[in-house]
Amino acid sequence: MIDPQIIEEIKFRNDIESVVSSYVTLRRAGSNYSGSCPFHSEKTPSFVVFPATQSFYCFGCGAGGDAISFVMRAENVDYISAIKLLAQRGGLVLPDSIDGDNNKRGVGRQRVLDMNKEAAKFFHKCLFDEKIGAEARDYLMKKRGLPSAIINRFGLGFAPNSYGALHDHLRKLGYTDEEMCVAFLCGKGEKGIAYDYFRNRVMFPIIDTSGNIVAFGGRVMDDSKPKYLNTSDTPAFKKSKNLFALNFAKNNCENMMILCEGYMDVIALHAAGFENAVATLGTAITSEQARIFSKYTKKVIISYDSDEAGQRAANKAFNYLQEVGIDVKILKMSGAKDPDEFIKTFGATRFKDIIEKSRTRFDFELEKVLAKYNIADFDEKIKASKEICNIIASFSSDVEREVYCIKVAKLLELPKESIKKDVSSMVNKHIREEKKNQKNEIYRATSGIGDRINPESAANIRANKIEEAILGLMQLHEEHFKKCIETLTSEDFVTSFSRKIFEKMKELHSLNVKFDIAYFSEDFSQEEVSRIAKMQTDRQMLNSNGDDVLMGCIDSLRAEKNKKKSENSLDSLEALLKKKK
Ligand code: GTP
Ligand code: MN
Repeated sequence: MIDPQIIEEIKFRNDIESVVSSYVTLRRAGSNYSGSCPFHSEKTPSFVVFPATQSFYCFGCGAGGDAISFVMRAENVDYISAIKLLAQRGGLVLPDSIDGDNNKRGVGRQRVLDMNKEAAKFFHKCLFDEKIGAEARDYLMKKRGLPSAIINRFGLGFAPNSYGALHDHLRKLGYTDEEMCVAFLCGKGEKGIAYDYFRNRVMFPIIDTSGNIVAFGGRVMDDSKPKYLNTSDTPAFKKSKNLFALNFAKNNCENMMILCEGYMDVIALHAAGFENAVATLGTAITSEQARIFSKYTKKVIISYDSDEAGQRAANKAFNYLQEVGIDVKILKMSGAKDPDEFIKTFGATRFKDIIEKSRTRFDFELEKVLAKYNIADFDEKIKASKEICNIIASFSSDVEREVYCIKVAKLLELPKESIKKDVSSMVNKHIREEKKNQKNEIYRATSGIGDRINPESAANIRANKIEEAILGLMQLHEEHFKKCIETLTSEDFVTSFSRKIFEKMKELHSLNVKFDIAYFSEDFSQEEVSRIAKMQTDRQMLNSNGDDVLMGCIDSLRAEKNKKKSENSLDSLEALLKKKK
């Protein structure tokens, strides 16, 4: 556990209001503040900051916690990094042991980063080795047409065709087999012998925005399979949270970024002067990556392969990016399978042209519907009109809807009024559906069905409600906290999630540490921390948080527990009787 003094000092120097204010515009609401939630897209603000408890909670998506868990979410970083960021923000110098704590559990992030850097240097040197790198240089420069300036800028390299070249090199530098395997630079054979994972491949280092080499992609130089090998997740790398070439693009992307599918596309684009191009790392875009985009830019042009798979993926990416409020356009590319090939065939100027002609979501969807139907036929025209009205209804801006209605009326040769009428009835339908979903959501939340965080709550609705009240009260008042630690035991709790929270609280108490949700972010997931924050928020919303309420809850919990116990013993009695029969 992190030294409580450090946590206290960090929280003291970083008021939750001021931390959150750098991400969200907050308005005063009584003694609290409210604003639009930065963790999900919403039209009416349901995100609240509570200065009294130094916590936040979103009534829309359920995200909650303190300044540390806020930064973990907002900056996409782990517990230790969030603590470091806040320490820096508050001008606090942290002891080196902060990382030490982290490393004890295995190979640490820094160790992997150092190893990666050595590996990248090694691969780069091999690429420019007269003999070893000859074929790879030919491939990159002649076959793929990359100038050496770009090869150097991206730090490309070559992994020689050997099972031990990198391994032996890293061994000399003092890295162990175990460490090389954790970093994904080596694999382990049957006899436990480490061997180089990347062999006879051109190497693409993946560099994060701080300049660390976090991973590698390696491509074969012929048609053999698999075409690419990529680093899996390591202590220094999560695929879903990084973008290839963001380290370069981040300085040229305020107005727009280009999202491609492949490493080679990105490199070709950078070579042609489009330094705002990035790619995901061999996987479909995730919501985490969409949020990264929203931090750097207002507009993204999706420039995926022109085949069907690429277009389908583009559609998905569209939704993710749109959700985080980015203006998204899709590139229409013909005559080439991907941006790399397009630029080679038609040149950079033509690529710039098609970027400027890239289509909005509406045009993109419209085109898909029109391709499906023959609008000269009455029946098909009606079907097409229905689908298009549905698309228009999904836009939240009145002006946008108005403009599209006019456009579609002309296109389908129908009166504008009928289109508008259909659209508005669909808008109403969407609203009704949303309300129904919300109702279902509330029902599910209160009945415990589908509760992934505490799956036992569904079978123990009443007990769980009481547990949550107690755990909420404990967070709210120090006296309640002490009282419960003194009177309750872990065995009094019915669900294991509540028990786990109580046990952590007991641990804090035994270390003479006051309750702070900050300590939970270390071994509870973000969703679990949010749930714990919710328990506190729920109590805060009520006025009845006195001693009598707490004592009432404690009695009820014990009664529930006894009821469960006798139910269980009846069950087992029944089972026993059945067995005897
Ligand atoms: P070139 O074919 O050399 O032009 O490469 P590319 O980067 O354009 O690759 P492509 O369009 O075929 O694939 C897009 C991206 O998907 C690549 O950059 C890789 O990140 C990933 N990818 C492609 N093939 C594989 C594979 O066999 N395995 C894995 N893990 N990822 C792959
Ligand atoms: Mn390609």
